[in-house]
Amino acid sequence: MLQVNLGACSLLLLLLAPATSAGDYPPTAKGLSYDFYRRNCPKAETVGCDASVLLARTATEASELDAPPNETIRPSALMAVAQLRALLDNACGGAVVSCADILTLAARDSVRLVGGPEYKVPLGRRDGAAAIATRERVVAAFPLPSSNVTTLLAAVAKIGLDATDLVALSGAHTLGVSRCISFDDRLFPERDPAMDTLFAAHLKLSCPAKNTTNTTAIDVRTPNAFDNKYYVDLLNRQGLFTSDQVLFSDGRTRGLVAKFAVDQKAFFRRFSFSMVKMSQIQVLTGVQGEIRANCSVRNAGGAT
Ligand code: HEM
Ligand SMILES: *[C@@H]1O[C@H](CO)[C@@H](O)[C@H](O)[C@H]1NC(C)=O
Ligand SMILES: *[C@@H]1O[C@H](CO)[C@@H](O)[C@H](O)[C@H]1NC(C)=O
Ligand SMILES: *[C@@H]1O[C@H](CO)[C@@H](O)[C@H](O)[C@H]1NC(C)=O
Ligand SMILES: *[C@@H]1O[C@H](CO)[C@@H](O)[C@H](O)[C@H]1NC(C)=O
Ligand SMILES: *[C@@H]1O[C@H](CO)[C@@H](O)[C@H](O)[C@H]1NC(C)=O
Repeated sequence: MLQVNLGACSLLLLLLAPATSAGDYPPTAKGLSYDFYRRNCPKAETVGCDASVLLARTATEASELDAPPNETIRPSALMAVAQLRALLDNACGGAVVSCADILTLAARDSVRLVGGPEYKVPLGRRDGAAAIATRERVVAAFPLPSSNVTTLLAAVAKIGLDATDLVALSGAHTLGVSRCISFDDRLFPERDPAMDTLFAAHLKLSCPAKNTTNTTAIDVRTPNAFDNKYYVDLLNRQGLFTSDQVLFSDGRTRGLVAKFAVDQKAFFRRFSFSMVKMSQIQVLTGVQGEIRANCSVRNAGGAT
């Protein structure tokens, strides 16, 4: 979500501006609130995961950036978060806003800036202080892009998400790029018959052989806009990953894909809902965890 090329300053301005919008929201987890920073950092008043994905590799332990989905996070995204951290610390007079909330807000603002829905996010989530983001756990929790719907549904069910959340959140693939290696098994040694012929030929321009190091847009129609064209891609057998295309071939999710492809408002409503739901998974609040001073490393003296 952080791939949008924006200066940290414009993101900060958005962090300070309340995002208000009507719509349905899932229940708010205990300890989170929509105006969490009003008192201790009013400038960040409106300012997911527990930001453990940001942990840099250290000599002593493998962190989330070492696991196979490792290279999926662009270094520029980590730098953007570090810049936001510095700007917010300056505005708040210290480390007040958690890295987890910075990510939630950056995602919200990035989506909005490229044409997506405007939604509110509950804040107050704290950063993980324990060594929970190990390589093994990430591998176990992260579905591969070659997954079928059975595997995807089982993976999201473990974190309290359902088929509608899966289809709506996969709509984030309307943005961003992928390395060839995440999908070239669908091109070589031969084309996955579930993939449109012309689309396969188009992809081979970026990825001419197996294991090449290029990247390509995930949403072939409107790669830089947050819209519902990702679902139109799927209807045309132009989904990039198997985990995208199967959402249209499997009867359990096909109806939702077809609906979002023709009803962008319905997609935006459900995407907002599911993003808020996702931001509250396994949430740490109150005195749990920590507010990381550096989003890439746990604070010194943190729990083990
Ligand atoms: C349902 C399971 C999912 C799978 C299997 C999956 C898989 C992937 C893969 C393989 C990539 C390309 C990484 C690379 O090779 O560079 C990617 C990129 C991306 N994914 Fe997902 N993803 C999933 C869910 C999500 C969700 C829930 C979101 C957000 C709500 C999301 C947002 C993105 C974005 C924005 C990118 C582009 C990143 C960039 O441009 O740097 N994905 N995903
Ligand atoms: C990514 O993970 C693979 C193993 O899955 C490892 O070989 C590679 O060195 C890692 N890349 C980075 C940049 O950490
Ligand atoms: C889905 O993928 C899993 C893991 O690869 C496999 O064991 C299972 O048989 C597949 N299910 C279906 C319905 O294809
Ligand atoms: C990388 O992809 C671009 C188009 O997306 C293509 O013009 C270029 O030739 C590709 N590079 C390699 C090394 O295949
Ligand atoms: C591609 O790379 C993978 C992992 O590095 C390796 O197992 C595989 O043999 C390579 N395939 C080709 C065609 O080079
Ligand atoms: C944060 O930690 C990373 C990884 O150890 C380090 O490279 C970076 O310089 C640190 N940033 C600051 C501002 O200290």
